[in-house]
Amino acid sequence: MQFQLIRHGVVDSTNARALDAIEEGAARHGDVHAARGQTRGRGRLGRTWVSAADEGLYLSVVLLPPPPPLSPVVLTMATGLGVLAAVRVLGVEASLEWPNDVVVGPAKLAGILVEARGLDPVAPHHVVGVGLNVSQRSFPDELTAERSVTSLALQGVSVTLDEARERVLAELSDALESAFHDSAGLARDYLQELGCRGARVRVQAGARTLEGRLSDLTPEKGLRLVTEGGREEELALEHVSSLVPLPLETRMPPGEP
Ligand code: BTN
Repeated sequence: MQFQLIRHGVVDSTNARALDAIEEGAARHGDVHAARGQTRGRGRLGRTWVSAADEGLYLSVVLLPPPPPLSPVVLTMATGLGVLAAVRVLGVEASLEWPNDVVVGPAKLAGILVEARGLDPVAPHHVVGVGLNVSQRSFPDELTAERSVTSLALQGVSVTLDEARERVLAELSDALESAFHDSAGLARDYLQELGCRGARVRVQAGARTLEGRLSDLTPEKGLRLVTEGGREEELALEHVSSLVPLPLETRMPPGEP
């Protein structure tokens, strides 16, 4: 897809800028709000995305109908694959972590936040936000106390923010196009990258923790799990907060389904 770049200085949040533009009727499909820094960068679950000026990529893509109405989870998967492809081209062997993280080992390199505006419930307007750590050499203690974090620079890759943005947008364009044309194929690719296809996994879905073999993941039916008792479970993607492969030798404790 084609993007139009809208450059900002330091703003509150590029997702907020993009959502405001939608509400004002000023947004076009493919607008990319890119900022030098953010004072109130938003992460998932109400968290903050630390966004020091000129050290990371902070951008938000506007998706307007008529592209097929994909759910935020499927758009997150597509974006994850796009960002993953980009950082690999830049030279970092990263991987994906459900639902929205690009990681190197345990350390988070990039995050994705898709927000929808329900102006029309069957044709939602989406904003796809991407934060990628580029040149940071250190991060605030509050952040590293929560989880381990990394950047392209800490992975030994030295690129300018412009180069990183160009690469991310090129790969994101391809990934979103594939999601629009073949969301089932996109979901298969995502599962493959997660290393969970056919694997034994542990899933957190709402208050439930389940273990079993992951037999399928489709945009429509969600995640299909065969538990050790042989029962089939279908879990809506938006309810799945965690999905991790289990080591082969892991067995479910007795008494669990
Ligand atoms: C997460 O991993 O929790 C998601 C982080 C998403 C951060 C990006 S930075 C650009 C865009 N604008 C925001 O306010 N958030 C997203």
